Amino acid sequence: MQTRTLGSNLTVSAIGLGCMGMSEFYGPRDDSESLRVLARAVELGIDFFDTADMYGPHHNEELISCFLSSQKTKVRIATKFGIVRNPGEYQRSLDSSGHYARLACEGSLRRLGIEQIDLYYVHRVNPETPIEETMEGLVQLVKEGKIAHIGLCEVSDETLRRAHAVHPVTAVQTEYSLWTRDVERTILPTCKELGIGFVPYSPLGRGFLTGRFQENADFGEGDFRSNLPRFSEQAMDTNRRIAEVIGDIAALKSCTPAQLSLAWLLSKGDNIVPIPGTKRLRYLEENAAAASIKLTTDEQQKLEAAIARLPVIGERYTPEGMKGVNA
Ligand SMILES: NC(=O)c1ccc[n+]([C@@H]2O[C@H](COP(=O)([O-])OP(=O)(O)OC[C@H]3O[C@@H](n4cnc5c(N)ncnc54)[C@H](OP(=O)(O)O)[C@@H]3O)[C@@H](O)[C@H]2O)c1
Repeated sequence: MQTRTLGSNLTVSAIGLGCMGMSEFYGPRDDSESLRVLARAVELGIDFFDTADMYGPHHNEELISCFLSSQKTKVRIATKFGIVRNPGEYQRSLDSSGHYARLACEGSLRRLGIEQIDLYYVHRVNPETPIEETMEGLVQLVKEGKIAHIGLCEVSDETLRRAHAVHPVTAVQTEYSLWTRDVERTILPTCKELGIGFVPYSPLGRGFLTGRFQENADFGEGDFRSNLPRFSEQAMDTNRRIAEVIGDIAALKSCTPAQLSLAWLLSKGDNIVPIPGTKRLRYLEENAAAASIKLTTDEQQKLEAAIARLPVIGERYTPEGMKGVNA
């Protein structure tokens, strides 16, 4: 597996592993299988695991800790704070204060059973807390060795620049994929300009771009996706065409739609490290193999042109969820 460098010196596998779905949001969990996926990821050279304190809370960090305790290879752990949830509840609030960053960081370190978090993201910025205050809290944690690098999720260009002026930001993590390209307007150019890495989350469009989910009913009972506007029955009637086109182009390239989607992201910049999420060995192996698929400029342009002709119906979050993005 090739490596890429986020910021000035966080070198990780070119494709990471999103661990969220191993705990909740995308159907039932299976810890034994998830532990096998984590072990196989390391065998495949994937050394960058993405989690957050609010996934499961706090099942996902605990699952990773269970894996790390039996593991000798160094794995880079990225976790996040700022979305406050009680176990068993979906109700959430935002807290990106420096004070809360410390509390949350200490909780994550304890649950993960590690002494330092490699990359610590602000999961959502609370607009009522100036980003300078958040960053100052995080800088203290860097000085104490509790975190090595700072990241920000779903931030606006202005917030990113203000944060980076306080302390170098190593990575921005925001949704980015063939059907969600908003970051190309300002965030990606700013990351390039300032030497910041970019970590696309939901790089497979929460699985939709693989062609696996054709209609709303394909998401099981309680699956978080079934309530998202893009996956309403009506939206999927139109959006389905996007997955079909990706499938057709992938077939011409002799790869799978998931691999084409990941190879496209990798082709968009050498500071980009997608983190496809899966709890299944088969998908993990398929996704890891995408790191060696290269798109020519011509293939990249044809793919983009084919998708650009198709409308995307529905926002990526509910109105409440949209309040937390581009903050
Ligand atoms: N910062 C944030 O706000 C934020 C938000 C969302 C996610 N994230 C992070 O980003 C990671 C990735 O995003 P995501 O999990 O939302 O979306 P994703 O990676 O776009 O898609 C995950 C879904 O695709 C399925 N899948 C994976 N590989 C596949 C393949 N090769 N063929 C068919 N289906 C495949 C998975 O199935 P199975 O579940 O059945 O394996 C899962 O349902 C998360 O795990 C999380 O760590 C961050």
